[in-house]
Amino acid sequence: MSNAGDIASRFWNQPQKASEEEARERTFIDDIIQKDHIERLIRSHAGGIATAFDGGAGSGRFSIMLAQMGVRVVHFDISQPMIDAARARAAQSGVLDNMQFVHGRLEDLRAYRDRQFDMVLSIDSPISYTYPQHEAVIGNLIRLAGKKVIFSVASNMGWIPYLFNPAQKAQYILNKQDDDPFVRWTLDDALPALASFVPDMAAVRRTYARQMMADLTQMLQKHDEGQTQWPHTYAFMPDELRAIMAQSGARNIRLSGPGALSRCIPNEVLVNIMGNATMRREFLDFCFAYDTNPYCAGMGKDNLVACADV
Ligand SMILES: C[S@@+](CC[C@H](N)C(=O)[O-])C[C@H]1O[C@@H](n2cnc3c(N)ncnc32)[C@H](O)[C@@H]1O
Repeated sequence: MSNAGDIASRFWNQPQKASEEEARERTFIDDIIQKDHIERLIRSHAGGIATAFDGGAGSGRFSIMLAQMGVRVVHFDISQPMIDAARARAAQSGVLDNMQFVHGRLEDLRAYRDRQFDMVLSIDSPISYTYPQHEAVIGNLIRLAGKKVIFSVASNMGWIPYLFNPAQKAQYILNKQDDDPFVRWTLDDALPALASFVPDMAAVRRTYARQMMADLTQMLQKHDEGQTQWPHTYAFMPDELRAIMAQSGARNIRLSGPGALSRCIPNEVLVNIMGNATMRREFLDFCFAYDTNPYCAGMGKDNLVACADV
């Protein structure tokens, strides 16, 4: 039988994944808030950073940004389509000379020396997809860092509300006419079905306790039958992530939960805010302040973010 890593590899190597990831910030307001939060965090810690490793760098949202700031970046990912898309974007941005693209798995970082990079990133859950090796992966990523680490992982507190509202993304749709398939499914199928939706409380309790969305044995079985599964995703609790990072030598660990404030704001108001450039900027400034308050850490939208010194 295959392992959990094979599921992640097959899922992320689907050819459409790169364009789907790139479209997220054009389609969903929670993704705008989350990526903006992380961008601000990286920029605010980039002083004195000359080299960086981005583990699970995807289509280059943050690796290219760092390269544009003059940082030499290793862009590392399990998915060749993601790497190809990132390389094309880096070429367009004129920063290819600052970037090295590496196809690999976070579960094997033996090629890199201790403290080889000033900054180590792993953003939007790559660590969570390495279950059951997530703790060792965190330790190894911290091992590579000389100054700073910034991680964002799936949040157990943050994703439980999905089990009570499968149409939760509807709150964050920028344009209701969008023909994106997930937008259409959310508006045309999931939202009308809410009236008859009854949460499965046994599943809620099981998911909360196990910190995983689905049963791994069943997923592996389906994978071996040729189905492409959403990768197994381990969702962290805030204190748990803090403890694992501290054990690996991280210091001054600051946790945040991007999207915590926006959860409380209806779609109509979010869309109005996004449509006015001044208001959008002020709102994103305030979200960063609010969602960085450690009391929000677990209640971000999908991700729990950690930033630390080493
Ligand atoms: C949601 S995307 C995030 C991409 C980017 N960090 C961002 O925030 O825009 C997750 C990325 O992790 C990569 N990934 C998943 N499992 C991985 C693993 N075991 N090793 C390396 N990369 C992995 C995927 O291919 C994908 O590009």
